[in-house]
Amino acid sequence: MGFKKDFVWGAATSAYQIEGAAYEDGKGLSVWDGFCKEPGRVWQDHNGDIACDHYHRYQEDINLMKEIGLKGYRMSISWPRVIPEGVGEINPKGLDFYDRVIDNLLKVGITPYITLFHWDYPYELIYRGGWLNPDSANWFADYAKVVVERLSDRVKYWITHNEPQCFIGFGYYDGVNAPGFKYYFSDYLRMVHHVLLSHGKAVQAIRAHAKTPCQIGYAPMGLTSCPATNSPTDIEAARQATFNITKHFFNNIWWDDPIFFGRYPESGLKLYGDAVPNFPADDLKIISQPIDFLGLNIYQAQKVRADQNGNPVDVPGQTGYPMTAFRWVVEPSATYWGPRFFAERYHVPIYITENGMSNIDWVSLDGKVHDPQRIDFLNRFLLELEKACDDGVDIRGYFQWSLLDNFEWADGYKERFGLIYVDYPTQRRILKDSAYWYRDVIVTNGASLQNNGAAVNAAFRFERYASG
Ligand code: FCB
Repeated sequence: MGFKKDFVWGAATSAYQIEGAAYEDGKGLSVWDGFCKEPGRVWQDHNGDIACDHYHRYQEDINLMKEIGLKGYRMSISWPRVIPEGVGEINPKGLDFYDRVIDNLLKVGITPYITLFHWDYPYELIYRGGWLNPDSANWFADYAKVVVERLSDRVKYWITHNEPQCFIGFGYYDGVNAPGFKYYFSDYLRMVHHVLLSHGKAVQAIRAHAKTPCQIGYAPMGLTSCPATNSPTDIEAARQATFNITKHFFNNIWWDDPIFFGRYPESGLKLYGDAVPNFPADDLKIISQPIDFLGLNIYQAQKVRADQNGNPVDVPGQTGYPMTAFRWVVEPSATYWGPRFFAERYHVPIYITENGMSNIDWVSLDGKVHDPQRIDFLNRFLLELEKACDDGVDIRGYFQWSLLDNFEWADGYKERFGLIYVDYPTQRRILKDSAYWYRDVIVTNGASLQNNGAAVNAAFRFERYASG
């Protein structure tokens, strides 16, 4: 069976991580603009003022996407570029920029997937309480309406939030991401509720204002526990662990059940007790607007086995287990079990909205960027994804993170996730070996994955597969 014929082979980025032009053409400030200016917050005090300068180089970047052969491109819109103060006045130049990007993507046959919010919250809204303010859901829906009115004649795929676990958890609970606050747990839960509500209201706004038929999704973390063996008890333990409630903000069901089931999970209500905020009963109806797909961002996974009672127990990695440059464990079966478990629970088509690895890349003496680890990593994860497709999981597409090396949040430019190498001082782009390898995967709709990462000649294979 393998990948569907119209499988969307893509790559992803986000606005703050690549655009730069932080103070240009009427853009307002985001919490990341402020956070990066505070010494010690970001690795080597890096910031996204210039980033990949994509705001000025989008045409070159789209040409490179075309060269790689991408079918889809997942990008985000900067809310403060469009509405500088988060609410109220619109910045026409901001919308013009996204217009140009969309037009140029479509010109070369690449389908845009638009994420409305990928963490760059309008700074001005912090003075109004940000996500703590019950009105914050309406602010987001109003912003969604503005974007949809402008772009939906051409854009068909919308994603409301990217990894809300991270922007709320890291941003407002443990403080390592912008805006760097540490609220009480009960306030954190209140914010979660407003973010979920903002998702629901944005879905309503998109449906009400879209000019063409559209598909709407949500892209939380796809935190996956994988069974240590294929025994039914280990599989069941892994499923349980994947959907366990935790006190940590890294959990799936508190963030996903309200959207798909219209209720918070019992286990969470019990564990969080009095910290759970009161809210109007109707909120859950708004939050659970039907959506068309679930995006999963999957990078790493925990292996688990069942104990004597069938309960999940973590299985530690063997000494010397494989890790990425970020020290994230390499567990390819995550892209098999993740889509499978989530599709079984929520009965919804799946996209992998992010998957990839940071590697220690540099330009070799031959002028090229050789990244065999990334090729092997992607090959392994994609083979597992293919297995999930074979087993009947409805997987529509895959967005590699990331098109370009970029600003990796509190880790600055230390981590390189790109298919394309960016030499920041000159802004020169170089396609890494993995980009050429990915081109083959795309051209062959995944058939070249059977080569296990071996370098192949894309042009040759193209002829071979095109003709037969
Ligand atoms: C995810 C984020 C994305 C990127 C990758 C490495 O958590 O959504 O912006 O930073 O991690």
